[in-house]
Amino acid sequence: MGADLEKVLIPADELQAKIASLAAQISTDYSGRNLLLVGVLKGAVMVMADLARALDIPVEMDWMAVSSYGSGTKSSGVVRTILDLKTDITDRHVLLVEDIVDSGLTLAWLISNLRSRNPASLEVCALLRKPEAARIDVYVKYVGFNIPNEFVIGYGLDYAEKYRNLPFVGTLAPHVYGGGREQHGNNRD
Ligand code: IMP
Repeated sequence: MGADLEKVLIPADELQAKIASLAAQISTDYSGRNLLLVGVLKGAVMVMADLARALDIPVEMDWMAVSSYGSGTKSSGVVRTILDLKTDITDRHVLLVEDIVDSGLTLAWLISNLRSRNPASLEVCALLRKPEAARIDVYVKYVGFNIPNEFVIGYGLDYAEKYRNLPFVGTLAPHVYGGGREQHGNNRD
């Protein structure tokens, strides 16, 4: 693994500290409300698991999986549902938990999809956001880290389904992906 990794961008202890502070804020904001966390598979598995355990309010958890199509690394905003929620979110307080907001097109689609189901409220928590990559302006209430426009792996994020299990967020050495981002698809299920 050492040779595949270019650099550690966010060490494990910084991720955990940030999740603890996001969880404290979310616990305060949703105190007395019945919160449903919606995680987006597979990338949000780690942040969902750690965030949920750091909250000190009762929550329910459900999952969605989507696939976004695009050419090369560019998300097109054309999204397909692979796995839908089991929960009826009508009149529920929903917090969508995301691993990363890149172009924002997938998130914009998810928000409009969930909003059409008439939840009582809908907010987003994203561990990572790449402001320079944004192609659409999406409001994210809880952001962990703004990061540079680089391809990152670890803590749920993959390259060709690998590296999700790393406890930190890092960047890949160019030899792993052939020196460009072209070979990365946007299929995220
Ligand atoms: P967006 O629609 O461009 O915002 O990106 C959608 C999805 O692409 C994210 O939720 C991730 O699953 C994936 N993605 C975007 N950037 C990265 C990255 O740097 N590493 C790994 N996956 C990424």
